[in-house]
Amino acid sequence: MTALQALLGTRLPLIQAPMAGVQGSALAIAVSNAGGLGSLPCAMLTADTIRSELAAIRAGTNGPYNVNFFCHTPPAPDAVRDAAWRDALTPFYRAFDIDPTSVGAGPGRHPFDAAAAEVLAAFKPPVVSFHFGLPSTDLLAQVRGWGAKVLASATTLDEALWLEANGADAVIAQGLEAGGHRGHFLSHDLTRQLGTFALLPQLVKALRVPVVAAGGIADAEGVAAAMALGAAGVQVGTAYLLCPEATTSKLHRAALQSDDARHTALTNLFTGRPARGIVNRVMRELGPIGAAAPEFPLATSGIAPLRAKAEAQGLTDFTPLWSGQNATGCRAVPAAELTQALAAGFKEH
Ligand SMILES: Cc1cc2nc3c(=O)[nH]c(=O)nc-3n(C[C@H](O)[C@H](O)[C@H](O)COP(=O)(O)O)c2cc1C
Repeated sequence: MTALQALLGTRLPLIQAPMAGVQGSALAIAVSNAGGLGSLPCAMLTADTIRSELAAIRAGTNGPYNVNFFCHTPPAPDAVRDAAWRDALTPFYRAFDIDPTSVGAGPGRHPFDAAAAEVLAAFKPPVVSFHFGLPSTDLLAQVRGWGAKVLASATTLDEALWLEANGADAVIAQGLEAGGHRGHFLSHDLTRQLGTFALLPQLVKALRVPVVAAGGIADAEGVAAAMALGAAGVQVGTAYLLCPEATTSKLHRAALQSDDARHTALTNLFTGRPARGIVNRVMRELGPIGAAAPEFPLATSGIAPLRAKAEAQGLTDFTPLWSGQNATGCRAVPAAELTQALAAGFKEH
């Protein structure tokens, strides 16, 4: 048994990565029932939906599960940057017959707050994980109050040491290969970001708490390699995106199964924070990292009408096609089957 299994109480040291926008309780339940730690991403959910999803998980599994939140500080409105963003997108608005003045502002992703903590308190989830650092000391104390184990992502050694010092029970080493948002929170300098197999051994050496490897792990061999480097467990995201229990859209599924999935990049165009996705038209034409994109999560609203119009025509030109660098493990099989296949890597180790 690894230190992660002991901490989480799971049969396998495997966490299904929380993936906002592409999965809900169904995937979490399937993975928890298969012996891993299923996760419910809450960054894009209302309090009512969090409540109903947690009720579904409680009804669907007796196993431990994880509830995941972002913990960014919402930015102050910046009219100048909003206007620059609108200008950058205006040629696309024109081409799709969208009135630029009709494009609303508004956050697309919420940080963990007192209201969310209150919803959780009624369910007392056994594990809570955070992306972009940790919430305030008060909020973290509330989570700990019902005995939840706390996990958080680190993308550098400095972040990992900070998380350990500030109350994380285990640290997720999120390598640069990972799909979705980078979890960095101490420095926004992307040149500091490390690949999984450069980051992982540095954290294993320096930390007392268990280290979970994430990023580019797509099959049993990848799992075995991470364990050989000292990981106490793995967190796998991209590989689950084609499972029937995920809510990944048809267009996203098709992109993941095409040769396009071989080319991913970090982009801030969809939300304002760097995240890894399959390169598409808007990333190619504006460059994947745009200085005009408003701060996270305010870039979302500018892209939203373009995305809706393009998707109605079957185009992914403005769709965030989140994916890690290694989509070769994506298989359209039940999540339990995929979990079992990945778990073979623990035996090899
Ligand atoms: C579609 C997608 C959405 C994601 N959303 C979240 C999220 O809501 N919260 C989070 O902590 N991590 C999120 N991540 C990052 C994962 O936690 C994890 O770091 C990553 O999936 C691991 O790399 P892999 O995708 O190569 O397996 C997301 C990843 C993907 C692919």
